Amino acid sequence: MEVIKTEVELREKLSQVNGKQSVGFVPTMGALHQGHLSLVKQARDENEIVVVSIFVNPTQFNDKKDLETYPRNLQEDLKKLENTACDFVYTPEYKDVYPVLDTREFNFGGLETVMEGKHRPGHFNGVAQVVSKLLDIVQPGKAYFGRKDFQQLAVIKALVKKLDIKTAIIGCPTVREGHGLAMSSRNEKLSEEERKNAGAIYNMLAEARNIASGFSVQELREWAIQKINKNKYLDVEYFEIVDDTNLQPVKNWEENSVKVGCIAVYCGSVRLIDNIIF
Ligand code: PAJ
Repeated sequence: MEVIKTEVELREKLSQVNGKQSVGFVPTMGALHQGHLSLVKQARDENEIVVVSIFVNPTQFNDKKDLETYPRNLQEDLKKLENTACDFVYTPEYKDVYPVLDTREFNFGGLETVMEGKHRPGHFNGVAQVVSKLLDIVQPGKAYFGRKDFQQLAVIKALVKKLDIKTAIIGCPTVREGHGLAMSSRNEKLSEEERKNAGAIYNMLAEARNIASGFSVQELREWAIQKINKNKYLDVEYFEIVDDTNLQPVKNWEENSVKVGCIAVYCGSVRLIDNIIF
């Protein structure tokens, strides 16, 4: 496994394999856990060369404190990647990714303005900026993203369509802790007690899916929000049941679409997201 710090060096290495061997790419912000590693394993299974990037991208953080306190542990990450048999790890500095300020503004027809986009203004613009740059540097045949970040996956699929990028975007299943909590780098910031209680988020989503047919969409939303807010460790920011293609809230179950329940919850000061397909 080679650790590469600059775009120039990474382009040079990959120019020797691109076109000859299949390249799979997993972009991350580090503090790697089994969720990330499951993407790396899938990339390993499906490609000859696997590239992982570790870069905490400032342009996607709308909250300065969240950026400052985002967990970082590069040495541990590199050990984990070595064990998962990755070929190249790209660990750039800010200036390598953004030699000049990126002023591009993306419009994804509303995908980026609901839910996470509404509560984290500018977030998906930053994600689109960094992902478009990374895909341009790596030029992978396939890039792997978690369905845990369901809205991000939808935005990235729209991004590659819009920019006519040839990479196939592969959505991968959510990896969970034993009690159901979706793995996330931010889970490291939870106290033991908070972490235990955060398991209630997925338990609620699974129960909501089971009982959905007995309620209207609106009733189920209210039930879900109340159920989580009863737990004194948890505070719902939003819970929406949306159409999986345009991410707009659905009004009734009869609508002809796949419906996804998406939630953001504060657990203490840590913001957690999760989703379930109904
Ligand atoms: P990060 O949060 O580090 O996540 C990197 C990738 O791992 C994303 O595709 C995310 O959806 C996936 N992932 C995270 N937790 C997961 C879990 N429990 N199960 C399965 N996959 C999981 O998402 C980002 O970084 C950034 O926004 C990025 C795309 C790298 C752009 O900066």
